[in-house]
Amino acid sequence: MSDNPVNFMYRRDFLESLGKLSVGAAAAGGFGIGAARARERQEQKEWKPVSLRKVRVGIVGYGVCRFGAAFGFQDHPNVDVVAVSDLIPDRCDALMKACRCDKSYESLEKMVKDKRIEAVFVATDAPSHARHCIEVLRHGKHVMTAVPAVFGSIEQADQLLEAVQESGLKYMMAETSCFRPDCYAMREVYRAGGFGRLIYSEGEYYHFHSKQIGSFKGWRIGLPPLWYPTHSTAYYVGVTGKRFTSVFCCGSNCGIPSYEPGANKYNNPFTDEVALFKTSEGGSSRMLMCKGINKLVVERGRVFGEKGWMDGTEYHGVAKDLPDTIRPPLPPGVPAGGHGGSHGQLSNEFITSIIEDREPLVNIYEALAMTVPGIIAHQSALKDGETLAIPQYERPKA
Ligand SMILES: NC(=O)c1ccc[n+]([C@@H]2O[C@H](COP(=O)([O-])OP(=O)(O)OC[C@H]3O[C@@H](n4cnc5c(N)ncnc54)[C@H](O)[C@@H]3O)[C@@H](O)[C@H]2O)c1
Repeated sequence: MSDNPVNFMYRRDFLESLGKLSVGAAAAGGFGIGAARARERQEQKEWKPVSLRKVRVGIVGYGVCRFGAAFGFQDHPNVDVVAVSDLIPDRCDALMKACRCDKSYESLEKMVKDKRIEAVFVATDAPSHARHCIEVLRHGKHVMTAVPAVFGSIEQADQLLEAVQESGLKYMMAETSCFRPDCYAMREVYRAGGFGRLIYSEGEYYHFHSKQIGSFKGWRIGLPPLWYPTHSTAYYVGVTGKRFTSVFCCGSNCGIPSYEPGANKYNNPFTDEVALFKTSEGGSSRMLMCKGINKLVVERGRVFGEKGWMDGTEYHGVAKDLPDTIRPPLPPGVPAGGHGGSHGQLSNEFITSIIEDREPLVNIYEALAMTVPGIIAHQSALKDGETLAIPQYERPKA
């Protein structure tokens, strides 16, 4: 497989921020035209406002990743950031400053009572996402959450789905891979019929565990790898909107002490998990999350269909007249942000879905279809690769 430099995260983001990445070095950015050129083409597109309305947003969570302020809500012309919150006072103050907001609450639970707030971005710790989103929805507010939608629990998935369905409000999971340039292009090509049926796909989240990343109450310590599957599974579900139906998975351990039996609260012995899924269109898909491969930190994927394939943003296949695969423009002032410039796209998608009163791209059904298969894959790995069925989350028939 060819390298896909679009998705190597930290080194690339760092070089780009210094303006040191040349068009040549960034080859494979957009149908072979280079990532920098693809970005240029995106910037040449003119953003057209759909409304002058401002959605009143609350933001929660300014932890290790500083995610609360990372999606550009505070810069979006259709957003008024009304209030922010973090349990830790210093973080709460820093989030206020970063969002240029003068109101804060000491917790999400207090913030959701503010009747001015219409929508909340939940950027709290992963174990709390489902509970926090349910709390927001029960207070009559739309919600966008950082990944994953639920944390290792099928019960949480059922409860979250019920809360979204009962509320009739917008729910969106901010899966960054879904708006990376390559995944965006694959989705456009798939929708235009450029692949036909996908025979096979691959999604990869390699995050070499050189040192333990911090986290609220230590939720990252010993985390089962495929409880955090969505950066990978987006390269099938986020391309096709189709589903995984069954899985078998292999786990392995590269020797990190916190992943020894009994050394973590999940009783998880694996640093690396590789899963093979059957898909609802009769194909297969290999999805992984690995922490043990030295020096490798990347999120990427590739898709192989009856009419063509993509690894990066370049299409190889027989289809003609393919659509524009460059991502839409962002409102002036909204930064593209991290993870392949996906952050601005995600906040814009969420806000636009509220204004246009339509489903956001990564709605509850897509979010669970990207998250739950990883939970089942981990169960399979614990059973030495037994094949297990994946629960399906259907939209109620009208
Ligand atoms: N590419 C990606 O999509 C990506 C990358 C990094 C992180 N993430 C996700 O972003 C989220 C945030 O990551 P992080 O590393 O900053 O998390 P973290 O664990 O470091 O911090 C979570 C923060 O939430 C706050 N919080 C928890 N409960 C709260 C409550 N009830 N009210 C107010 N504040 C509360 C905590 O005080 C803490 O500061 C995580 O869920 C993570 O999975 C996604």
